[in-house]
Amino acid sequence: MIKEVQTVMDVRAQVKLWHDAHQTIALVPTMGALHEGHLSLVRHAKTKADRVIVYIFVNPKQFNDPKDYDHYPRNHLDDLDRLKREGVDLVYAPTLLQMYPDDFATNIHVSGITEHMEGAVRPGHFDGVATVVCKLLLQVMPDIAIFGEKDYQQLCLIRQLVRDLTIPVEIEGAATMRDEDGLALSSRNVFLSAQGLKQAKRLNKVLFDLAAQVAKGDVSTENAQNYGRDQLNAMGFQDIEYIELRSADHLQEVSNDNQNKPMRLLAAVRVEGIRLIDNVAVDKIN
Ligand code: PAF
Repeated sequence: MIKEVQTVMDVRAQVKLWHDAHQTIALVPTMGALHEGHLSLVRHAKTKADRVIVYIFVNPKQFNDPKDYDHYPRNHLDDLDRLKREGVDLVYAPTLLQMYPDDFATNIHVSGITEHMEGAVRPGHFDGVATVVCKLLLQVMPDIAIFGEKDYQQLCLIRQLVRDLTIPVEIEGAATMRDEDGLALSSRNVFLSAQGLKQAKRLNKVLFDLAAQVAKGDVSTENAQNYGRDQLNAMGFQDIEYIELRSADHLQEVSNDNQNKPMRLLAAVRVEGIRLIDNVAVDKIN
């Protein structure tokens, strides 16, 4: 069996043993229901440190819809099995009470970066993420923590949080894992019908095509969002939450001042009521 702990005391005791032995530790935070995308983060983590800890906790504070929290997929035994096969050293799976005792009263809000896109559509979501990630990093104190670029806005928020609060952990983004048709792997994909899956696979195509056109200058940065929305409509997406072109570092709106710096194209749509997000890099060719 893979070693699993549930308490801060136990995870810290193990981390201390490894640090005392001069071993470095990478942490991979997840909400479980692990798929190949998570496993690619684990593999990345293994190249970065001597020891890998995977954290599994479905964080209620980041679900703005309680039904979404109740229905979030949970496969703990399968997860443990997969992580064992990947050679993970430790699973940290705290209980709800361990993370949020009854008298828990702190909320961490990172302003600016959280106020648009996911933040606008999912009120309170990023406070829940910032609060739990801050708590987790302080509990474990790894040398490095790996987050997927699939949740790009989350990654930018965590970088900001760690910078602002001077938490001594390196934050590393790992590339989004895609299926053979480019669909970004997500725990929510399992809820799609065969038809829905076919539709979902068109999202990355729109993003990659538009990113290439903006990079070449065939679509201007000013027109990119409207053009992207039209393309999504033309490809059969009826429920588009946003498609936005932003600066890659702080996710600011693209203007004359920053349009020659790396950009990111991000979108969220619903297919069969399931939220799908994706994003791609836009590196302008001057
Ligand atoms: O990306 C996730 O799975 C979650 O948002 C995280 C970072 C584990 C915090 O709950």
